[in-house]
Amino acid sequence: MARYIVLLGPPGAGKGTQAEILARETRLAHISSGEIFRENLKAQTELGKLAQEYMNRGELVPDDVTISMIEERLSRPDCAGGALLDGFPRTPAQAEALEAMLRKNGSGVQVVPYIAVPAAVLIERLSGRWTCRAQEHVYHEKFNPPAVLGKCDIDGSELYQREDDKPETVESRIRVYMEKTSPLIAYYRERGLLAEIDGTQPIEKVTADLMAAIQK
Ligand code: AP5
Repeated sequence: MARYIVLLGPPGAGKGTQAEILARETRLAHISSGEIFRENLKAQTELGKLAQEYMNRGELVPDDVTISMIEERLSRPDCAGGALLDGFPRTPAQAEALEAMLRKNGSGVQVVPYIAVPAAVLIERLSGRWTCRAQEHVYHEKFNPPAVLGKCDIDGSELYQREDDKPETVESRIRVYMEKTSPLIAYYRERGLLAEIDGTQPIEKVTADLMAAIQK
């Protein structure tokens, strides 16, 4: 049966960092809603232009647009065995839509690791984050630096700082997370799917805890 894992956590909790490692370990497709929006923006598609307006303000892209984008992505062959969802769902409406989508295939969300990190730590993480242009590999100037300054260790492409990592946008992203996304903690806890992970630990330790939660 297909396996669907939802990574939940505030902006900067380490969802992208961990999803990349977990996707390798589990061989599941890594589906990042933020990355799909940024790819569309790079390609200047209508979806990308629409998403940019919201992303630059640190707000959420409307549910209907996001839900149909993810439904299309999950229908592709590389998701036949399931997926590791990073950044989706982000509202109760998105969580209900995901449940309905998966139910159609006789499937459902298997586990929801929630990577918990306090707000003060998030700001430091996002202000020092560097992302690779080619494939969005993620680094931190202090906590996870690349071997060569400004270059991705994996594909050699240039590292850049995301437009929405400016301090004022980060504050708004954290506020939006608290209002719109944090209710999903209770939503998944009530369904017996939540596994809380201490995201303030070193990257390797967070990975080990996530692997244990997924394999349970
Ligand atoms: P998205 O790209 O999903 O951003 P996000 O959820 O805000 O998450 P981030 O990518 O900022 O952080 P992360 O948790 O992946 O942390 P990372 O691993 O990089 O979304 C962007 C925007 O798109 C949204 O604001 C919204 O507008 C839109 N959007 C996306 N999905 C949507 C949806 N479903 N509905 C509506 N709109 C949507 O780590 C952060 C930094 O910390 C890195 O530098 C990393 O090296 C470092 N780090 C990671 N782990 C550790 C550790 N354990 N110790 C020390 N440092 C660490």
